[in-house]
Amino acid sequence: MKEFPLDFCPNTEGIFAYLNYLVPATRKQILDILIEGLKRMEYRGYDSAGVAFDISEETNNKSAIKLVKKRGKVKELEAALENQNGLSYTKEYDIHCGIAHTRWATHGEPNEVNSHPQRSDENNEFVVVHNGIITNYKDIKAFLEKKGFVFESETDTEVIAKLAKHVFDSDNHEGSFREIIEIVVQQLEGAFALVIMSTHFPGECVATRRGSPLVIGMKSKAKLCTDHIPVFYSKGIGLKQLNEKGDNRGYMAGLAPNRMFSESEYHTVGPEKEVEYFFASDASAIIGHTNQVIYLEDDDVAAVTKGCLTLHRIKRATLGEGGLNNDRKPNLQPSIRKVQTIQLELQQIMKGNYSTFMQKEIFEQPESVVNTMRGRVNFQENKVTLGGLKDYIAEIKRCRRLLFIACGTSFHSAVATRQLLEELTELPVMVELASDFLDRNTPVFRDDVCFFISQSGETADTLMALNYCKKRGALIVGITNTVGSTICRESHCGVHINAGPEIGVASTKAYTSQFISLVMFGLMMCDDRISMQERRKEIIQGLKKLPEQIKEVLAIDDEVKKLAEEMYKEKSLLVMGRGYNYATCLEGALKIKELTYMHSEGILAGELKHGPLALVDKAMPVLFIVTRDGVYSKCMNALQQVKARHGEPVIICNVDDTDTIAHANRHVTVPHTIDCLQGILTVIPMQLLSLHIATLKKCDVDCPRNLAKSVTVA
Ligand code: G6P
Repeated sequence: MKEFPLDFCPNTEGIFAYLNYLVPATRKQILDILIEGLKRMEYRGYDSAGVAFDISEETNNKSAIKLVKKRGKVKELEAALENQNGLSYTKEYDIHCGIAHTRWATHGEPNEVNSHPQRSDENNEFVVVHNGIITNYKDIKAFLEKKGFVFESETDTEVIAKLAKHVFDSDNHEGSFREIIEIVVQQLEGAFALVIMSTHFPGECVATRRGSPLVIGMKSKAKLCTDHIPVFYSKGIGLKQLNEKGDNRGYMAGLAPNRMFSESEYHTVGPEKEVEYFFASDASAIIGHTNQVIYLEDDDVAAVTKGCLTLHRIKRATLGEGGLNNDRKPNLQPSIRKVQTIQLELQQIMKGNYSTFMQKEIFEQPESVVNTMRGRVNFQENKVTLGGLKDYIAEIKRCRRLLFIACGTSFHSAVATRQLLEELTELPVMVELASDFLDRNTPVFRDDVCFFISQSGETADTLMALNYCKKRGALIVGITNTVGSTICRESHCGVHINAGPEIGVASTKAYTSQFISLVMFGLMMCDDRISMQERRKEIIQGLKKLPEQIKEVLAIDDEVKKLAEEMYKEKSLLVMGRGYNYATCLEGALKIKELTYMHSEGILAGELKHGPLALVDKAMPVLFIVTRDGVYSKCMNALQQVKARHGEPVIICNVDDTDTIAHANRHVTVPHTIDCLQGILTVIPMQLLSLHIATLKKCDVDCPRNLAKSVTVA
């Protein structure tokens, strides 16, 4: 099996499924494809893994499915698969479906029974892999227990497989696989992406999603029929009906699809019929096989039968459910899904010569910031054009206020640029943590413009805040690093930050690219203001120099490493600064916490005397960020206060700032740039410092304990 350097890390989930139709493959090849799919998603984190595949060959052609599940790494699952007694690995299958999963425990501890696939019964009639959470699983479980089902796991997922069997049995085994699953998903509440296979429908599979990403890759030597897939609509059915009637008889009639398109399927044309389908929660698991994909929308149900892929929706969303669509019209979901070509290259997500993805990503920043600005900033004419926003700028200029909503590092990019955006747009700017914004039921109006900043484009809290604002009629702007992500699809307009894939759980290059994207937005908002021209020019010329200046900062890596050697045994680190560098304090402290498990706090120097000063003494490690900007003298004042309490601060300051250096116990320097961009250069030593401390403490740099790259549950 091909080795892919992603075989580490605990926590989050991944779905991968493979269906080959008239493309002969041995069982060994099929299992290798499934395992490799899981390995490509290992960076997302997980604590157990499992697969389901067909074993009708071993059961005298009686349709049967085998489950193999393991706590721990995919490698352990792989080893378990190699040691299955009585399985032939050389037998060739013309048609086959297999599903696989990496699980991050939410309901029930990580063990084999709780791992996915989950099953309907001892005969594995329906088996399912699931990302997300079913919030009403207790009600469904109680309903099924009354029907005699005995549950074996502690998971919420098991209700899905058992409900599928219940629906199938109640309808005298008459419905199609897709129809059964459509009934099942209508009973589910929460967030999910699912792929299901069944002994009753060999060589078929059904997949669906709501609030959790799912992408389907298609590959065929033969010509494929179309570049889009039409969507059928089926009438809905409620849990109430299911509960009232207690069985499911007669529901299939209610679900007969409303045919609305003549062209119904994605399939091959001509004599050759062979085709392969790959289902995954993450495009990185598919790119090794094909670059032709469709992204499922919420409530799409995809089914493959006899090699043909069809897409259905239960019903059209109404304004009440979906709010406004991307043209700000009532949300009648688009009725086709386009086949898209993904650009991601495999090498792009590999580690190369770096020891960790995080290190690679920090050192990529001279290029990633160029990619963010490429084709957008004209340094000769001092002009900025963001293609994804230009048609909306006039509307944005008329707005009541700008809201920037995000989580974690993405939130810090909004803190970092808030002052500049207030200056350049002359609009009120609110910066919000998505979870808190939702907790407060914050008032939002039609003439608000809401920005959702997210590296992954899938963060549950950010997405919920987006839906909240969309329903209230605000203009939705997405700032994401993941083309095709839910946030980018749900936004009216937006900016792809183009930082390239970020694998390390702790965000680094996405931060600097988000920062620059927001600066570019600010510049676009004031390009016709005469009074701003000098300032704009100075910022644009500052942006031009950034890649070279980032290289200069990266060149002090050894000095930062020495600092890390002196600090790594400490229990705590206070990071102080103010003005444009306050965001660096927050982001720097977050990096230290995430990676090194040391306590660290970003402290606004203006607040020192209102509490934090009490922490300062000779023993308390303090890092102070002081650059030559409008708050320099205030910073120096705060620094004096720290020193007066016998603090011995390490200082990050500008090159050649001898006055400031004189106050430092130790220091590292960064080149001088214009005030509003300085935070891009001061954050890099903090990224490096956390990386080195984590390495010295032997922490898992790319996958810190208890954290996940993409937090798709709220
Ligand atoms: C997780 C990651 C962080 C990230 C945050 C927001 O907590 O570990 O690195 O900043 O999510 O993620 P997003 O993809 O929305 O930027």
